[in-house]
Amino acid sequence: MNATAIRTIAVDGAVPYPIHIGPCLLEDGARLCEPVRGGHVLLASDGHVAPLYADRVEAALRRARPALEISRFVLPPGESAKTLEGFDACIDALAALGMRRDGCVFALGGGVVGDLAGFAAACWMRGIDVVQLPTTLLAMVDSSVGGKTAVDIPAGKNLVGAFHPPRAVLADTTTLRTLPRRELRAGLAEVAKYGAIMDAPFLDWLHQHRDALLAMDDAILAAAIARSCAHKAAVVGRDPFEHGERALLNFGHTFAHAIEAEQGFDGLNHGEAVAVGMVLAARLSARLGLAGAAHADALQGLLDGFGLPTRVPAGLHADALLARMRLDKKAAANGLRFVLWHGPGRAGVIGGIADADVLAVLADDTTGDVPTGDAPQDSP
Ligand code: NAD
Ligand code: GLY
Repeated sequence: MNATAIRTIAVDGAVPYPIHIGPCLLEDGARLCEPVRGGHVLLASDGHVAPLYADRVEAALRRARPALEISRFVLPPGESAKTLEGFDACIDALAALGMRRDGCVFALGGGVVGDLAGFAAACWMRGIDVVQLPTTLLAMVDSSVGGKTAVDIPAGKNLVGAFHPPRAVLADTTTLRTLPRRELRAGLAEVAKYGAIMDAPFLDWLHQHRDALLAMDDAILAAAIARSCAHKAAVVGRDPFEHGERALLNFGHTFAHAIEAEQGFDGLNHGEAVAVGMVLAARLSARLGLAGAAHADALQGLLDGFGLPTRVPAGLHADALLARMRLDKKAAANGLRFVLWHGPGRAGVIGGIADADVLAVLADDTTGDVPTGDAPQDSP
């Protein structure tokens, strides 16, 4: 392994932790074992990722620490597994292993595994260690960092969960080589989010490097991951429990969560829904006079260029989406609250938004395109 290719970003807080980004980290037993305090490890993953990478992680852990007792928990892949039933099964796996308080859960996979296994670690014996091993772009730039863990329930997304920061994040960029293109694009939505809300030059950089990102150029992708993680680390270091600025990271998410829930978590994936949600939030901001419509057009152009959906999928009704948004964690008693946009690099949380404005933006924006193309690594 080329150790110089590894970048490390520190996340400050009550218990600081590192985010390591680079190739072949899943083979680095010493680094994997660094945060492991006890003798038990649960390696949690999903049915796509486990066959690809779980042996690699387990072998590296055993080489570095032969006495470790390691067992596996494998979820069915996809958002529809991020449920209380999946959580229950993970807890059963911890019990079967005889997991102790000083043990450690390794969450190997995308945001679904990270959120669910992280939540199980948060609850087992009132909280044991978790190490995040993100294998999707989205998980590398967002969900593995910051300690939000949760499962979905029929009433809505991420409604049951806890803040439980990891002891370490190891983002092995070589795992992105097997990622389906649709998931790569989904991750680019969350990357673009950082540009939109806090880093206007990054938006320009993403425009310039669009083709290289879609072609999975190693250096460009690693640079995008590191810049995104630096933003996320800074925000969650200052506001770990979302009492203030962390809420900005939810740009587009009020719309996105409503779309995902309304589609039964079986339509757009999270990143795609966030792409649509960010455009809707930008259009709502333009309607309210906070930013120019040209900015919304430019953001939509960037996301379109990444091959992401940017309009509400056909079959979803504005009234039903509005009802979902009222259930969102960010909703308030006196009207809806949104992260709204003041143009590139600037966002703010604004409450008391009238239903009529939200409905008008939704009504202007329905289409039929549901993305497909789950094959890994077709041409960009
Ligand atoms: P995901 O975990 O469902 O992964 C997407 C798909 O890619 C799955 O089918 C998975 O099996 C597959 N996959 C993962 N890595 C792979 C690889 N290297 N090679 C081949 N296949 C691979 O989805 P996601 O987009 O990673 O995460 C979305 C979830 O993350 C949502 O539930 C969302 O709510 C959550 N999220 C959480 C936070 C947070 O702060 N905790 C932030 C953003 C999103
Ligand atoms: N993804 C939003 C957050 O971590 O706060």
